[in-house]
Amino acid sequence: MTDVFTALAQDHHEVKAMLAELERGPTKATGATADQLALRKKMTEQLIIEESKHEALEEMYFWPAVRDHLESGSTLADQATGQEQDAKHVLASLDKLGPDDAEFEKLLAKFVVDAREHIEFEESQVWPLMRAALPPEIAAELGDKIAGGKKSAPTRPHPHTPPSPGALKAAGPAVAAADKARDAVTGRGD
Ligand SMILES: [Fe+2]
Ligand SMILES: [Fe+2]
Repeated sequence: MTDVFTALAQDHHEVKAMLAELERGPTKATGATADQLALRKKMTEQLIIEESKHEALEEMYFWPAVRDHLESGSTLADQATGQEQDAKHVLASLDKLGPDDAEFEKLLAKFVVDAREHIEFEESQVWPLMRAALPPEIAAELGDKIAGGKKSAPTRPHPHTPPSPGALKAAGPAVAAADKARDAVTGRGD
């Protein structure tokens, strides 16, 4: 059994480590070699994959619980899913660019700042209220769903899918399967 906060914190920890690594560079502008740039692209793909899964699972399981269990839940969930949708647009554009494109570093730098702010928002504004409001058995159940949902979660951002649990549950498995098929063909995320 995994408590929902433990499951989400683990993801946040991994994402933050990837952000720090990417921030260290080197970039094209700071003299990265072709091999270093290829690795930078791979690391960015991995970040997009992990981030896409994480946000999709939050949208399926965590934000509906926030809406259900907190008086301010709808406001908080709207704000958070709005940040997540904005980030998906950035990541969808980033995913299409090569690491030697100037726009690549601009988008990546924007994502690094926005992602840290988003994580901070969740951990400091939402989690304390949810820790107090969520019965332990529901926290455990949501944690299991999030930890267990990783294999079948979408690996691409899909900014045009609304962040509602209904839309994600209906479209999610087919979308995730299509994402994985494309990843297998292109070697993305290997
Ligand atoms: Fe999130
Ligand atoms: Fe999160």
